[in-house]
Amino acid sequence: MSSPETLAANVALWTKANAEHTDAAAARAWSREEMSWGVFNVPESSVGAIGDVAGLDVVELGCGTAYVSAWLAKRGARPVGVDPTPAQLETARRMMRETGIEFPLVEAPGESVPLPDASFDLVVSEYGASLWADPYRWIPEAARLLRPNGRLVFLTNSNLMMLCIDDKGNVGEQLRQPLFGLYRTTWPDDSSTEFHLPHGRWIHLLRETGFDVEALHELQAPEEATDPVYYDYVTAAWGRKWPDEEIWVARKR
Ligand SMILES: C[S@@+](CC[C@H](N)C(=O)[O-])C[C@H]1O[C@@H](n2cnc3c(N)ncnc32)[C@H](O)[C@@H]1O
Repeated sequence: MSSPETLAANVALWTKANAEHTDAAAARAWSREEMSWGVFNVPESSVGAIGDVAGLDVVELGCGTAYVSAWLAKRGARPVGVDPTPAQLETARRMMRETGIEFPLVEAPGESVPLPDASFDLVVSEYGASLWADPYRWIPEAARLLRPNGRLVFLTNSNLMMLCIDDKGNVGEQLRQPLFGLYRTTWPDDSSTEFHLPHGRWIHLLRETGFDVEALHELQAPEEATDPVYYDYVTAAWGRKWPDEEIWVARKR
């Protein structure tokens, strides 16, 4: 399968983000005992999107610094991290050396994963392939990688947040973008491309690739959440009123 044409700009963005932020942030994320989701660290214990992972073969698509895989490994899963950005994978390798938590890493985009069919029980993506890969290519890859009855769990920005974002990438309290046609967003400053779909299109795509949708968790910023420092496009006050992120849970038929 050929590489997506959006890949080079997206890898360049995440190489820069690694140098500016994620390399330094990785140690904090890897050392957090409780698993949490998104920019406001919503605890998994209050969401229940992942459940018991002990003994499961897991692949994380767009693992970045791989802290989600590390959390799953601590809970008894056997993760494999997949990401196309060498700098991010190098940070993950450094964290493995520092913590002794080891699992395989594969350099590849979510649209084209060099791993065998039906070899995983769970596909997970937290802000990885879930928005940086084309859903019409990575969702079929997730279906291919899963065993029957396997689960797909992914976090991405909410539909509502994408509608309230202005051209500079800040989230306000007015609808600024159309919902109809929501698919690719290319940011003018760095030419990176994110992918988002309206809910109806997610459901259609998931169903036609062999999934049943089990849950859509709309995340609310906890009372004690503070404004994110690096991912500062949204405030905690906004996130307490509206979902800035959503987690989809789907099961392969
Ligand atoms: C927000 S980061 C990763 C999230 C991860 N949970 C973390 O914070 O370390 C986004 C990741 O998506 C990766 N990415 C970019 N294009 C991708 C693609 N086509 N498929 C999968 N991942 C991609 C980037 O390399 C980057 O590591």
